[in-house]
Amino acid sequence: MPQPLSTTKLPSGEPVPVLGQGTWHMGESARDRKNEVAALRAGLDLGLTLIDTAEMYANGGAEEVVAEAVAGRRDEAFIVSKVLPENATERGTIAACERSLKRLRTDRIDLYLLHWRGSPPLAGTLKAFDALMRGGKIRHWGVSNFDMSDMEQLWDLGGRGCATNQVLYNLRRRGIEHDVLPWCRQHKIPIMAYSPVEQGRLLDHRALADVAKAHNATPAQVALAWVMRLDGVIAIPKAGTIAHVKENRAALDLRLTKDDLAALDRAFPLAAGPRPLEML
Ligand SMILES: NC(=O)c1ccc[n+]([C@@H]2O[C@H](COP(=O)([O-])OP(=O)(O)OC[C@H]3O[C@@H](n4cnc5c(N)ncnc54)[C@H](OP(=O)(O)O)[C@@H]3O)[C@@H](O)[C@H]2O)c1
Repeated sequence: MPQPLSTTKLPSGEPVPVLGQGTWHMGESARDRKNEVAALRAGLDLGLTLIDTAEMYANGGAEEVVAEAVAGRRDEAFIVSKVLPENATERGTIAACERSLKRLRTDRIDLYLLHWRGSPPLAGTLKAFDALMRGGKIRHWGVSNFDMSDMEQLWDLGGRGCATNQVLYNLRRRGIEHDVLPWCRQHKIPIMAYSPVEQGRLLDHRALADVAKAHNATPAQVALAWVMRLDGVIAIPKAGTIAHVKENRAALDLRLTKDDLAALDRAFPLAAGPRPLEML
């Protein structure tokens, strides 16, 4: 059995691990599929049971990779998937969810998100989420790439059940610290931090290497430990190799000191004032 991981709580009180696994770009190439499935399964073995996917990724191909990875061990996994905004009308959301369930070869999605704000009215998407919850097709719902005004609108529409806002957050993308992050923490909505290592582009930064060296760790582990330093923040790095999965899992054992945090602050300062939410 894997060691229990640090968890945070969804608004329902259900605990979820603070480190999960992303799947963007999985399912795009038949050649990589075996390794992708093996990486996700290795993650499950290590307790990285939260797996983030979306109907968008490889046009559903990533959901099929997830299905293969959780085959025979569905109950261990907490599967997050997302509806594309162009499908997010009331009826469209329900149909998209049914398609995702088929590709995932499961009877329920643990957390179903609106991928980003689009033109269909939010009220219709929320109605669909409600119907899907009542039908047992999804266990929780949430949003992604929602800026402050979107969260406030969601609240005005009675969106109190929202279980997460999945947004871009890493050392180079700290804008949410001005508004979305404190707002969500105040409302007890966990933030799911996507691209926590900036798709690898962060990792050759000198400051990360220096902190890593002091801990006998790697730059990726420092970047992940920094994202997970706050309660209520879940990091979902995508790793396509077992070696990267193991390395990322060990980030949970890294405790950054006050001095480390100060050095990282100097290298990646928080820009002044709120700004529009960044997306990848
Ligand atoms: N809601 C949204 O709009 C949204 C947007 C973007 C992403 N996401 C979700 O968030 C997940 C993570 O974001 P992301 O995939 O954009 O970027 P990411 O996790 O920051 O970076 C993934 C890249 O980092 C590499 N990597 C992972 N662990 C590493 C390690 N220990 N050492 C060195 N390199 C490492 C991976 O390489 P290998 O594959 O070779 O291991 C891959 O190239 C996505 O997969 C997706 O599930 C959501």
